[in-house]
Amino acid sequence: MESLSTGIKGLDTLMDGGFPKGKSILVTGPPGSGKTVLGIHFLHRSCKEGKKCILILTRELTEDIFSQSRSLNLDLKPFVERGQLNIKNIFEDKMNKIKSVSKFGKGLCAVDTDIIEYISSLSLKVDVMVIDNIGVIAINHDIRDFADEFNSINIILLKNGCTSLFIMDEDSYNLTHRLTGYMVFGLIRLTSQENFNSGKTKKYLYIEKMRDKAVPVQYSLFDITPEGIRIITGMNDLLET
Ligand SMILES: Nc1ncnc2c1ncn2[C@@H]1O[C@H](COP(=O)(O)OP(=O)(O)OP(=O)(O)O)[C@@H](O)[C@H]1O
Ligand SMILES: [Mg+2]
Repeated sequence: MESLSTGIKGLDTLMDGGFPKGKSILVTGPPGSGKTVLGIHFLHRSCKEGKKCILILTRELTEDIFSQSRSLNLDLKPFVERGQLNIKNIFEDKMNKIKSVSKFGKGLCAVDTDIIEYISSLSLKVDVMVIDNIGVIAINHDIRDFADEFNSINIILLKNGCTSLFIMDEDSYNLTHRLTGYMVFGLIRLTSQENFNSGKTKKYLYIEKMRDKAVPVQYSLFDITPEGIRIITGMNDLLET
């Protein structure tokens, strides 16, 4: 199966080339574990390779993503200006709607986050889609509705041949009984381990599943530097054992 580079050298090695083309991958982890950084790497690389990309944001300001990508030397703004990357900010759309509907006495519940409507309306071919953070759907839905919504989004993207990265915070992932893990082609979990003696935190990446590949069954130590995610241990260790 053809792969798309993740934009992170060590991760491409761990994943035997990168994310499987046309499939969906779920990335989950606690706050600050590197989920958004991972998404930025993938988008930056895909844009550089000339792919048509979309980023759907549900919890962050577009401006914050621009400055984070700039700080990592993976500036996304030029790709937006060139029309290669579209950013749909559901969070900001929602803020604008709240401003107007609140005048009429309606609140937050009057505004929903309709990702399905947006991706269904896309007429152009999209190569790469990153949704950061899909966990918002978990908040206002019961488990069955949540599974339905996620499944619909997943199926639409699959049918369009889009290589999709779903970013989901760990709390929403657990709250929804880890259902999304079963629905996607691949699952990557990021974790942090605190060492109270040294006062330092170690970050680990674990490829829990990748349906078409033999992936290392181990946690890979990584860190986030001003150049982004750097895998410290991984394939070499595996080869030695
Ligand atoms: N330019 C940078 N240089 C060094 N480290 C950085 C840089 N940018 C981000 N980081 C590190 O990455 C962490 C944030 O990663 P990221 O935004 O990907 O987390 P996240 O998993 O998306 O969190 P959340 O669930 O809150 O959205 C920061 O706490 C910081 O430690
Ligand atoms: Mg994030």
